[in-house]
Amino acid sequence: MSEPITYLQHWDRTDAFDPPAVLRELGAEQPLSRMVYPDGHVGWLATGLEVAKEVLSSPAFSHNFHSAHFPVTKKGEPFPAMPIIPGMFIHMDPPEHTRYRTMLTGEFTTHRMAALGERIEVAAAEQLTTLRGLGSPADLVTGYVQPLCRTVLNDLLGLSAGSGAVLARLSETANDDDVPVEDEFAASKEAFLHLRDLVEKERADPGDSMIGRLTGVPGLTDREITNMLLVVFAAGLTTCEGALAATSLALLHHRDQLAAFRETCASGAGVPNAVEELLRYTTVNQYQIFRTALSDVEVGGHLVRAGDTVTISLPAANRDGSRFAHPDLLDLDRDPSGHLAFGYGVHICLGQRLARTLLTIALRTLVTGLPELTLDGPVDAVRLRSRTPVFSVHELLVRW
Ligand code: HEM
Repeated sequence: MSEPITYLQHWDRTDAFDPPAVLRELGAEQPLSRMVYPDGHVGWLATGLEVAKEVLSSPAFSHNFHSAHFPVTKKGEPFPAMPIIPGMFIHMDPPEHTRYRTMLTGEFTTHRMAALGERIEVAAAEQLTTLRGLGSPADLVTGYVQPLCRTVLNDLLGLSAGSGAVLARLSETANDDDVPVEDEFAASKEAFLHLRDLVEKERADPGDSMIGRLTGVPGLTDREITNMLLVVFAAGLTTCEGALAATSLALLHHRDQLAAFRETCASGAGVPNAVEELLRYTTVNQYQIFRTALSDVEVGGHLVRAGDTVTISLPAANRDGSRFAHPDLLDLDRDPSGHLAFGYGVHICLGQRLARTLLTIALRTLVTGLPELTLDGPVDAVRLRSRTPVFSVHELLVRW
């Protein structure tokens, strides 16, 4: 194996669609590499699809902050030792993780998503009317992507528009690498307190909402519920906004693919493969996916020692040429099944059904409702929101 590579602090994309060059070069050629973290820890970086799946699905790896040797914050500073926070199930291992996750699976059933899908259809149509009203050119991020995703998340959790707006602002601060750490912690705390107030109100008078239902679970404390809601909100909003912005941009830039997508949508046919391929191609969770070995374990022919941190690059794994022919091409006709845009293993995205429904309806409504839609300017002029764990764009100027 060649020299260890140095931890990339930001994994910045140099263009709107491709992972950073160093990750693409490693790719499937060297699916698991040694990587030096800023504190000197020599851990690993997984860029191949099969190796990534091995790590994400193996019980030998933990997502627990407590046992993690994750040496840096997203700003490259040493990570404070984190206790296990009750309800923060994204950073727990089974069986605790399973216990919390199971309490939420009922919120994402096919039946629930069908009902939510009907409301997304209405919300998308209304938002398109608002966008038209803004006049061409307009910013697709503030005129369509953000309001629509926020309405959907509010609806899922049972939040008022006011509460949703407060939490969205705080979540944006907490997800921005250019914000000072103190402000980021302050934003997380404020979001916790805001949600906890809502939980307390619901406990006193439970409604027919996710929060109301969680307050009915025997033995679950307000603190646990608040943290569970924080996970859902934080994991759901920035990803949906980033994915809808990135997939819209990908379609608008690849005009031939856009034309075919529009035609299929207009014919009333479903577009599941197209949405999956857009998810694979854009893979917005660009960093901060990591696991720590609990015991010595062999991965991809290498011995990973107990305590070693492995960072998994989902964007690189989704460009693995041994699984996806011509991986850097956006090809809406291909079968991209097995992509990792939603992760893999026990922490695989809980909201993936909702995300798929939202993307399908939002993109269809957009491209059929505005047949003349095009980027307002060259793709290189789009300001990338790259210094965030979830990739997005600052604004997306379009005309019609
Ligand atoms: C296109 C949009 C989305 C993408 C690309 C995405 C991606 C991901 C990924 C990659 C993970 C795994 C993280 C890891 O293993 O460290 C994840 C987990 C998660 N996602 Fe999503 N997500 C999306 C939308 C949503 C939505 C809409 C929700 C809920 C409203 C949601 C809730 C969650 C939760 C709760 C987890 C943690 C699951 C667990 O730890 O068991 N996500 N997501």
